[in-house]
Amino acid sequence: MVDAERSVPRHIAIVMDGNGRWAKKRFLPRFFGHKAGVDAVVRTVQACIDRGVPELTVFAFSSENWRRPADEVSGLMGLVLAAMSRYMARMHALGVRVRIVGDRQGLGDKLRKAWDEAESLTAHNTRLTLNVAFNYGGRWDVVQAARRALAAGVQPEDLTESRFGEFMATAGSPDPDLFIRTGGEVRISNFLLWQVAYSEFVFSDCLWPEFGEAQLDAALAAYRQRDRRFGGVKEA
Ligand code: FPP
Repeated sequence: MVDAERSVPRHIAIVMDGNGRWAKKRFLPRFFGHKAGVDAVVRTVQACIDRGVPELTVFAFSSENWRRPADEVSGLMGLVLAAMSRYMARMHALGVRVRIVGDRQGLGDKLRKAWDEAESLTAHNTRLTLNVAFNYGGRWDVVQAARRALAAGVQPEDLTESRFGEFMATAGSPDPDLFIRTGGEVRISNFLLWQVAYSEFVFSDCLWPEFGEAQLDAALAAYRQRDRRFGGVKEA
């Protein structure tokens, strides 16, 4: 059954992989790949708006990315701060609500302040929600949700899937219909483990800085071909 309402995904999640290789191909330091990656995020936000996709989640920094060389980690932090000051007004004007999902502990004060400001500036925007997963890990999310459910005094018999979902970092968002990973690897890498239970996966060889309208349209075309049954059977 092709569900007309779902011919456009309600939520796309993206693992933006391949920045380092993109830079290497150009004999540039990895940082320049991440910098070009920010431009690809901005392009993709616009492309999603143009196609009526209401929610986008991008994996900007994983719980595991701390293992990268210190200069790359600090470069990424600085880049995100710079991207916020450069693009936030444009995002706001486009009607984008920005939400940060991830562990804010252990991040610098400047970054935390920038996240808070971006979230309050854009809180009432409705055109597209951009979730920036930062210092995020799927397992971290499940554990923090369990901790918060326990702290809230939820009784074991009351802990249903939907109640548990209210404690996940992405609470309030629909689960991603479409999960895209660029960069040629075929894995989830501890992204939205709980939320991707029924997502459609599209893996692309395109390096993230090269991602744009054409690659998004290819992923959307693949998505439309999928027969989504959510564990049920296909109607005759
Ligand atoms: C993976 O490529 C990419 C990252 C770890 C960082 C992605 C972050 C951005 C594009 C910045 C986003 C900023 C905002 C404000 C949303 P890689 O370095 O693993 O590439 P490689 O596999 O080629 O080495």
